[in-house]
Amino acid sequence: MGKNIVLIGFMGTGKTTVGMRLAERLQLEFVDMDREIERITGMSIAQIFRKHGETRFRSEEQLMAKKLGQRSNLVIATGGGVVLHPENVAALKRNGIIVGLEASPEAIMSRVSRKKSNRPLLGKHTTVDDIEKMLAAREEYYACADIRINTTGQDLNKVVNEIVVQIKRLNSRRKNPPELQE
Ligand code: S3P
Repeated sequence: MGKNIVLIGFMGTGKTTVGMRLAERLQLEFVDMDREIERITGMSIAQIFRKHGETRFRSEEQLMAKKLGQRSNLVIATGGGVVLHPENVAALKRNGIIVGLEASPEAIMSRVSRKKSNRPLLGKHTTVDDIEKMLAAREEYYACADIRINTTGQDLNKVVNEIVVQIKRLNSRRKNPPELQE
């Protein structure tokens, strides 16, 4: 059973773009958790937040994490807040390698500025400073990643290659655990 590759990281770190290209490269199925939640609920993420609140969105997210954690051979792009619930991390780690994508607050700001309306947690007036604060508050959650990759100013293919190399390295380390020193 092939492990899933699970991309985590703050909004605008490139999870969807990188995930699609990585899945293509490894010939795996790509699943975007937020799109899947939208498909199942028949509502956009923004609508779920607006009509039913963040709590409802988080419980949909929890169900989805549990469901996808039972599957294999997927590249999964998660929503930026999936790591806030430890049971989501546990479900996704059960059969997955967690790849954390990172980017500078400035890069995040410029990427999300294009699509702020799709992101209920970011408003018209969100500043780089606000993003910096949110990143700092979430850092301990993103630290659950097995591999961490910075996407700031990086070419997409380079990021994908780096992930492939790091996953191979991780797998060989896990197969050949270092001898315990006396
Ligand atoms: C969220 C990130 C969003 C989406 C929702 C909440 C978050 O996904 O799941 O708006 O809490 O960081 P992206 O990271 O794909 O923007």
